[in-house]
Amino acid sequence: MNGRFCNRKGRPMGRYTEEVEKRRTFAIISHPDAGKTTLTEKLLLFGGAIREAGSVKGRKANKHAASDWMEIEKQRGISVTSSVLEFQYRGSHINILDTPGHQDFSEDTYRTLAAADSAVMLIDCAKGVEPQTIKLFEACRMRGIPVFTFVNKLDRQGKDPLELLEEIEEVLGMRSCPINWPVGMGADFCGVYDREHQRIYRYERGQDSYVLETEGADDERIREDVGDALADRLAEEIELLDVAGDPFDMDAIWAGKLTPVYFGSAVTNFGVEPFLESFLDLAPAPGARESDQGWIEPDQEKFSGFVFKIQANMNPAHRDRIAFLRICSGKYERGMAVNHVRTGKMIKLALPQQFMAQDRSAVEEAYAGDVVGLFDTGNFQVGDTLCEGGKYRFERLPQFPPEHFIRLTNKNAMRYKQFQKGINQLVEEGAIQLYRTFMEGIDELYIGAVGELQFQVFEHRMKGEYNVDLLMDRLPYRFARWVSGEVKDPSSLVYRGHTRCVKDSRDRLVVLFTSEFYLSTLEQDHPELTFLKLAE
Ligand code: G4P
Repeated sequence: MNGRFCNRKGRPMGRYTEEVEKRRTFAIISHPDAGKTTLTEKLLLFGGAIREAGSVKGRKANKHAASDWMEIEKQRGISVTSSVLEFQYRGSHINILDTPGHQDFSEDTYRTLAAADSAVMLIDCAKGVEPQTIKLFEACRMRGIPVFTFVNKLDRQGKDPLELLEEIEEVLGMRSCPINWPVGMGADFCGVYDREHQRIYRYERGQDSYVLETEGADDERIREDVGDALADRLAEEIELLDVAGDPFDMDAIWAGKLTPVYFGSAVTNFGVEPFLESFLDLAPAPGARESDQGWIEPDQEKFSGFVFKIQANMNPAHRDRIAFLRICSGKYERGMAVNHVRTGKMIKLALPQQFMAQDRSAVEEAYAGDVVGLFDTGNFQVGDTLCEGGKYRFERLPQFPPEHFIRLTNKNAMRYKQFQKGINQLVEEGAIQLYRTFMEGIDELYIGAVGELQFQVFEHRMKGEYNVDLLMDRLPYRFARWVSGEVKDPSSLVYRGHTRCVKDSRDRLVVLFTSEFYLSTLEQDHPELTFLKLAE
């Protein structure tokens, strides 16, 4: 789904421009353990949305905070589903779309990025750019959203900051522009130098932080304050960045081609507030979204939004199903009637929920950039557009390539109906993808997922919600490709044990592969076909 971020200068004010301009809706992307939970918690603390440290982190320690609704989350002490955290900070209205921090992640993680206007990429300074960060970054790049980088854990010895910038450039192919620069690292870490304002945010463990105003990185005051060695190094590195680094370029940032970089330490709260302030200043407010009938401006009068995620039974006490709606334009009001474009029905949006850091509470009004949760009795599908006074659709959400596959068998044939119902429901939610074998007279069901954990969630929910026991056999395939072009004989695409032809839920031909080798072999043998990573 495309978005357009543009400077509002010269554009007439819309009815809701002021509300839209206040909003920043973003996701934090990172590899597990980089410090996402810690950073989120510090941001919420600044916004006053939580009162004490540990409220968010507690969920890992099995204390179950607001987003741990599902039973499996409790059992494993991790957050499986993405939720939304909302808070106010100095006149800004901030929505953090929380993506699971666990090693295994899912379609939901990716789809959440479709609802975000920007992303904060969190990097552990000792580990650099890690695999999950790369995948999530790719999903951001696909959407062209701006990515802001926070290099974390500067209170520990890590890689050289210049080396980290090089890594971002080499591994992610992204140019970078440090907004601030660390003064020291590890035991010597004593602050960050703000390049634009030429000031140092000074930190000392266990003491109040302060701001040191300077006339530049070679100012004598820095030397007096942090000593010769750190001052010399800072002056040298800043000079290097000024001469050889990428210059600050707002257009390139908003086009997702240049990442502003910040350094800090979330756990000690060093550099988090200056980061937040600068981020709020530079990150885009909700922009126009593309629909099949042109661009929809966020501040227009008429309401619109799309469903980016559906979650069943978030609260076992209520057995509810919630559709998460990202608002794209207009004003949401409780009880309003809107077009459900896919079904052509008018529906009333009753009893929505907004997601605060600690609790769910009813929403009275919301604007572009906000996320509301709608109680759903089975009307919604991921990707649905809801709009007022129109019949347009926002672009389809892309499906992401699964990397794990299982063969699925219903243990109890008597419960066939429930088995089907459960599968249809969970496939509709988009957490898993369904395939059917069709060759050699064998009719089997395969399930593919972006992350392994989805299988456990799937099994657990099939049992808990549909009382169906499953047999799940792991398959050796590592990735899937949708075949584009005319296939006369599907068996010509089969290398026994290494590839497999299946049909997806929309009857499209898909090949499952055990390794890249067989993909390149098929590509050579069948130049008339294209093997697509994503369904067309
Ligand atoms: P995640 O959500 O990205 O998985 O990471 P999380 O915030 O849980 O942080 C992972 C570990 O990294 C935690 O340590 C956390 O305290 C630590 N951490 C986060 N930010 C910083 C930082 O700026 N500096 C340092 N030195 N460590 C940081 P843990 O030992 O796994 O957990 P805990 O016992 O501290 O809770």
